[in-house]
Amino acid sequence: MSKVTVVGAGNVGATAANVMALRGVADEVVMIDIKEGVSEGKAMDMMQTANMLDMNTCIKGVTNDYSATANSDVVVITSGIPRKPGMTREELIGVNAGIVKQVTESVLKHSPNAVIVCVSNPMDTMTYLIHKISGLPKNRIIGMGGALDSSRFKYYLSQALKANPNEVEGFVIGGHGDTTMIPMKRFATLRGIPVEKFLDKETIDKIVADTMVGGATLTKLLGTSAWYAPGAAAAEVVEAVIHDEKAIIPCSALLDGEYGEKDLCIGVLCQLGKGGIEKIIDIELNEEEKALFHKSAEAVKATNAALPA
Ligand code: NAI
Ligand code: 2OP
Repeated sequence: MSKVTVVGAGNVGATAANVMALRGVADEVVMIDIKEGVSEGKAMDMMQTANMLDMNTCIKGVTNDYSATANSDVVVITSGIPRKPGMTREELIGVNAGIVKQVTESVLKHSPNAVIVCVSNPMDTMTYLIHKISGLPKNRIIGMGGALDSSRFKYYLSQALKANPNEVEGFVIGGHGDTTMIPMKRFATLRGIPVEKFLDKETIDKIVADTMVGGATLTKLLGTSAWYAPGAAAAEVVEAVIHDEKAIIPCSALLDGEYGEKDLCIGVLCQLGKGGIEKIIDIELNEEEKALFHKSAEAVKATNAALPA
């Protein structure tokens, strides 16, 4: 019996739960929220798609009742406020830090062995906060941001290449922020062939710039932050853990010297399996990438410094 809890049944949380249920990631998915009836209603709505969509997952929704989340293998934290147009992820810190702290304490009381996936923004700082307050082994706390940013990078690449998105490879490391993420153009390929073979420098630079503001572009269009790709990205991370996939996905991990940095959570290549982050893949960066990564780490640390004491 595998069980996943999603805290926050808003746009991202409910989408993640729905994607997980449709893909059969776990036997049971529980959504929990503070808004009376919302989790229950969304769970019932999703369960009413089961016969049409051949879904076998049991989805439950509860309001504030953490006993229903007991013995989860993975807990996804999406609770908090999202950004509005013109806001950065970093501006959410005050409100979301309080919520993430309370939620982490509550879920661990009932699922002390769970792997935690943090989605709430500013995600790298919230992931770091979970480390600080929980004292869990570092492999059991995963920040989701790089999976989403990499998917956006591959989307923009596939559009420019006029290619099947499934044949495009690429990843994004660094902080999950408009100015801190680093789309790794040197490793972007179409079926293993470097994209420089097909695209000129100006086009690749525009793809990198569009990826970096990918979230802001959608926030401007939608009036709130995006949820389809964020929900699917959270589900992808959970699936890698629950199914012990050993998949390599960029995630925010607590660094202790890897990539030349320490004492922060930031996006790096991680191998995910039952234990959570089973390995950090410490790739050799060139001088330009090293400088960008260090700058990104400094920016994330500055946001961490704004965490309430
Ligand atoms: P939303 O407003 O649609 O949903 C948030 C939900 O959290 C609401 O239903 C709210 O009632 C609930 N909530 C608030 N306090 C709670 C508590 N103490 N316990 C349980 N539930 C609580 O927001 P959305 O769009 O789903 O975004 C959620 C978070 O995820 C935001 O912080 C957003 O910035 C972040 N996000 C992160 C991404 C990433 O890649 N890391 C991507 C997209 C969004
Ligand atoms: C996103 O990237 C705002 O983190 C959110 O869509």
